[in-house]
Amino acid sequence: MHSMYCSRWLLLLLWCWTISVHAIPPRDPVQCNGTGCTVSNSYGPWGDRNDCHVKTVKYPATEEELRSAVAYANKNKLKLKVVSKFSHTIPKLVCPSSSDSLLISTAKYNSVIRIESNSTVTADAGVALRDLIDRVEKSGLSLVAAPYWEGVSVAGMITTGAHGSSWWGKGGAVHDHVVGISMIVPANESEGYAKVIQIGPQDQLLNAVKVSLGVLGVISKVKFLLEPEFKRSVTYNFTKDDLMEENFIEHGKKYEFGDITWYPSKHTTVYRYDNRVSISSPGDGVNDFLGFQSNEILISQSVRTSEKLFESTRSVTGHCTLAATTLSYKKLIGNGLKNNGLIFTGYPVVGRQGNMQTSGSCLYSPTTRLDASCAWDPRIKGLFFYESTAIFDIPKFGDFIKDVKRLRDIEPESFCGIDHYNGIMIRYIKASDAYLGQPKDSVVIDFNYYRADDASTPRLNEDVMEEIEQMAFFKYGARPHWGKNRNLAFTNVRTKYPNFNKFVAAKKQLDPENMLSGDWSDEILFGKGSVRSDGCALEGLCVCSEDRHCSPSKGYFCKPGLVYNEARVCRYSPSSSSNL
Ligand SMILES: Cc1cc2nc3c(=O)[nH]c(=O)nc-3n(C[C@H](O)[C@H](O)[C@H](O)COP(=O)(O)OP(=O)(O)OC[C@H]3O[C@@H](n4cnc5c(N)ncnc54)[C@H](O)[C@@H]3O)c2cc1C
Ligand SMILES: *[C@@H]1O[C@H](CO)[C@@H](O)[C@H](O)[C@H]1NC(C)=O
Ligand SMILES: *[C@@H]1O[C@H](CO)[C@@H](O)[C@H](O)[C@H]1NC(C)=O
Ligand SMILES: *[C@@H]1O[C@H](CO)[C@@H](O)[C@H](O)[C@H]1NC(C)=O
Ligand SMILES: *[C@@H]1O[C@H](CO)[C@@H](O)[C@H](O)[C@H]1NC(C)=O
Repeated sequence: MHSMYCSRWLLLLLWCWTISVHAIPPRDPVQCNGTGCTVSNSYGPWGDRNDCHVKTVKYPATEEELRSAVAYANKNKLKLKVVSKFSHTIPKLVCPSSSDSLLISTAKYNSVIRIESNSTVTADAGVALRDLIDRVEKSGLSLVAAPYWEGVSVAGMITTGAHGSSWWGKGGAVHDHVVGISMIVPANESEGYAKVIQIGPQDQLLNAVKVSLGVLGVISKVKFLLEPEFKRSVTYNFTKDDLMEENFIEHGKKYEFGDITWYPSKHTTVYRYDNRVSISSPGDGVNDFLGFQSNEILISQSVRTSEKLFESTRSVTGHCTLAATTLSYKKLIGNGLKNNGLIFTGYPVVGRQGNMQTSGSCLYSPTTRLDASCAWDPRIKGLFFYESTAIFDIPKFGDFIKDVKRLRDIEPESFCGIDHYNGIMIRYIKASDAYLGQPKDSVVIDFNYYRADDASTPRLNEDVMEEIEQMAFFKYGARPHWGKNRNLAFTNVRTKYPNFNKFVAAKKQLDPENMLSGDWSDEILFGKGSVRSDGCALEGLCVCSEDRHCSPSKGYFCKPGLVYNEARVCRYSPSSSSNL
């Protein structure tokens, strides 16, 4: 009864997605009043729910203003952090831990985009990825790598190692296309308390500053390699998930921009066939990925309300219905590919690199109607979810998939909560010279899942998500994406990077007084500050070792994993008590 009702209702909701709506742009992550400022994340995992206060925020518009802001912080012995106009990074990296701090926003430092010799582009740190791409394409050139989400800044994206998907050429990580960085670092009084250093392609230091988590210095400008303009031809093949653990290598080799999305509860795998074609190939397609389109606020809220209902009534079926409906809708509309920029009419969809690599139409506002937004906008109380991203060495990935399949086969429905977001997305990254980049050719998975409004509320089947997470990071030694994940993913992260000590040495050289360090970035980089408080495992702040780390009062106890027995997860077992 219940699920049939939901099924029809949700289908209706999903159809509404196709109605074109106007969006409210994300709010400014920095909000100030007479007493001070608050910086928040655009998803809302911290900021609103977990405050980050700073005394002063500066908005430099030129390199000299940026330098003088750094000098001001150094002279006055303030801690310093930088945030972009987007603030899309999920860990609290941009939050200075001391209130005696300065925050620099790069929101207004975005005017210069300069193309050199038809082969490189240099942009101010705060330039939006979309503006960079549009400018480059207008000059008959293409930027080869970018994250799939375009709502990021030039400096912010390289700083956390953001990536698309490719094993070809220089690979899918944006920082591997960087050939120069200007960085502002603290200096002594006679040098004016801060100076600009130019780091070129031959400098060892470039390997440290390409992926820097914002702790080495303040990036002023970034120079990227470009290629002559090209188009791409994309086809999604929705098929069975057999043999995926064997096919993924060949797939990554065969398609320059291939990826795979796996919906375990549906035994479905979607292979993205995606190769470069000549600029003269017919087609003016656009990749307007469904998850990044504007949603009517009412719809995002209804989806959230139904998720909460499924959670409170323990309705696995509800989550599964939502997953099934979403998947068939994605198949119907080609995930948001549009052949002519307007609608999906069939494969392949051919379009310019600048329109196919990255998207985020929910970011833009024609201001005429204020009834839609990005689905996760914290102002509307829409979607709220975790985002786990694990990066594997190739030889380990097949076994990981086999383990996840074993876990899935025990109870496929327990994966519905992942599948109604975006399943498990699999992408490719090449080995990098960056000290905090991938030491080897790698495969990366992303999966999102429901997060409760309240940190102390356990979630349906959370034991399964926790087991996948622990399998990835502990059994298979996967590396966490620096810009996503829950804290436990960063446990012992320094042992996973062979050049970690070189990064620390560069930090000593550039920022000897630790002006750019803070508790939050230390927590990520050095795995510091792991708490073992009641309920810590629910939020991924710890791996449980006692029941109190879960939620015994709500029937969630600390139990071993089902496939990976060494895992310790919070499992619903209302009749049980502690017996590890
Ligand atoms: C919907 C969504 C989809 C995403 N998709 C992808 C994806 O496909 N692939 C992927 O890899 N990632 C993805 N991400 C993650 C995203 O790419 C990263 O979190 C990225 O770092 C965000 O960039 P930002 O400009 O918002 O940076 P911010 O969050 O503002 O900052 C990120 C870090 O950079 C530092 N920083 C910013 N500017 C400077 C500067 N000028 N100098 C020094 N340090 C600086 C900050 O201090 C912070 O440490 C996604 C995120 C979202 C929200
Ligand atoms: C002003 O901002 C601070 C934090 O930045 C917050 O604690 C306080 O409630 C705000 N005051 C008002 C009146 O909004
Ligand atoms: C860049 O390319 C354009 C068009 O191909 C050409 O006219 C121009 O001379 C080139 N500029 C440089 C500096 O190579
Ligand atoms: C300031 O730093 C520069 C460069 O490191 C150095 O040459 C100079 O001696 C320093 N001056 C003082 C007063 O410490
Ligand atoms: C889709 O993938 C399946 C399984 O790999 C394959 O048999 C089929 O030919 C593919 N379809 C297309 C259109 O390529």
